[in-house]
Amino acid sequence: MTRTLQLGILGSGRGSNFQAIHRAILSAHLPARIALVASDLAQAPILDYARSHQLPTYACPPSRFKTKLEPELEQTLAAQLQQSGAELIVLAGFMRVIKEPLLRAFPGRILNIHPSLLPSFKGLAAWKQALDARVDITGCTVHWVDDSLDGGPIIRQAQVPVLPQDSPESLHQRIQEQEHLLLPSVLHDIATGKIPLPE
Ligand code: GAR
Repeated sequence: MTRTLQLGILGSGRGSNFQAIHRAILSAHLPARIALVASDLAQAPILDYARSHQLPTYACPPSRFKTKLEPELEQTLAAQLQQSGAELIVLAGFMRVIKEPLLRAFPGRILNIHPSLLPSFKGLAAWKQALDARVDITGCTVHWVDDSLDGGPIIRQAQVPVLPQDSPESLHQRIQEQEHLLLPSVLHDIATGKIPLPE
């Protein structure tokens, strides 16, 4: 049975993956509603895009850490997402490790997009790691989030060939083209029940 997914989006950067989700909603390819767009960085372009489309936003106060949020900040973020009515959290370029407050608030309901074929090339700049490792094929992965770094169960992947003339930028751009197809397609299959959500 198809449902309208209530999405909470977390991003730290440009938000091109979020824009792909939003386009899929606007063109009626994805039965979903954006409940909240939140960022750990008040200046993140993803928030500008959301505001310019009259979507609700939340910016976390500045954090002392780079790779995670203080538990109190993450608790407040979780509360904001719960109050928004979000039922599924999408990490769309969110560059902090998710910890207990969000994992407890949304058990089994947080997914992430990562720019490699996991389990290869976890962590930062995965496209550059793939180039440095001289692999022929890399790609992107949508996976459920648990308390490990980029380690939760894989939902779906898309492959991208590495070309001899690739720079880090050109490879990341082609990976992103696949990300923009992969993430809305996974969300579509969750909305239509093909990929089950925990009750
Ligand atoms: C995307 O390539 C995403 O896979 C990556 O950040 C980029 C965000 O781009 N995420 C990670 O590396 C998470 N470990 P966007 O802001 O344009 O969507």
